[in-house]
Amino acid sequence: MACLVPNPARFRPWLLPVLLALWPAMAETDERHFRLSAPEALLESGLLGYILPRFSLKTGVRIEILPEGAEAEAALGTKAGRAVFVGAGATWRLGLADDHPGAARFADWLGSEIGQRTITSYEVAGGAPFALPETEEAGATGPVIEGDAAEGQRVARAQCGRCHLIGPDRRGGIGSTPSFPVLRTLGDWDARFQRFYALNPHPAFTQVPGVTAPFADHLPPAIAPIEVTPAQIEAILAYVAGLAPADLGAPIQVQ
Ligand code: HEC
Repeated sequence: MACLVPNPARFRPWLLPVLLALWPAMAETDERHFRLSAPEALLESGLLGYILPRFSLKTGVRIEILPEGAEAEAALGTKAGRAVFVGAGATWRLGLADDHPGAARFADWLGSEIGQRTITSYEVAGGAPFALPETEEAGATGPVIEGDAAEGQRVARAQCGRCHLIGPDRRGGIGSTPSFPVLRTLGDWDARFQRFYALNPHPAFTQVPGVTAPFADHLPPAIAPIEVTPAQIEAILAYVAGLAPADLGAPIQVQ
């Protein structure tokens, strides 16, 4: 072991030409390697473990992940830089410290079609927890929801609570049905709630007056049906919008 560690006290003139010969190669390697800092919450979401190897495979650029605040060529965070994806309760931005070619390549890749598809194809428990940010011009304010959240909680408890755990209070719900706080972590949770009646298993037992067709005579619901009005769906959306997304740092609990 000792022979592998260079002893700075002993000058090895023969090393000099070796180092000089290596120099261009080292500079080259440097372009193909950069440091990226990211906060704990993002690391725990698993997204980086999914997208970074795919980026490296494609480009040959290797990324070393460092904790938030560490000196790095690029930083993922919520404050500075261009919005690159949304999920785990935040809009994530990529800031570049200097014009490192590898980091610039990563920024380009994240904005490219293939990079974006890689982000949205990351799945946890059958859902995609990360989505693309709204374009900055559109304003990063999230969806505009006008329903009455208190009414939404009442309807959700009465109608959805038979199967779903609808809030953090652990009341109601049955195993194997995703809880509302878990569904809330999905980048497109609002789209899913807006048309939940069209997504399985709901069509078999759900009526939305004026929207869904009546159950077919030969296919009566096998379980007690539920009925919600479009205004009640809007109210449920307002209620779910106010829920804290489940903590994705812990293993997903679908109960
Ligand atoms: C009889 C049980 C039952 C009831 C009642 C029920 N759900 Fe569901 N719901 C499920 C199950 C089971 C799933 C998971 C389906 C899956 O994993 O593919 C689900 C999934 C969902 C999803 C995610 C769908 C998707 O594909 O992304 C939403 C949103 C949802 N439910 C909303 C509601 C709302 C809102 C209500 C009440 C108005 C409700 N559900 C009532 C059983 C139910």
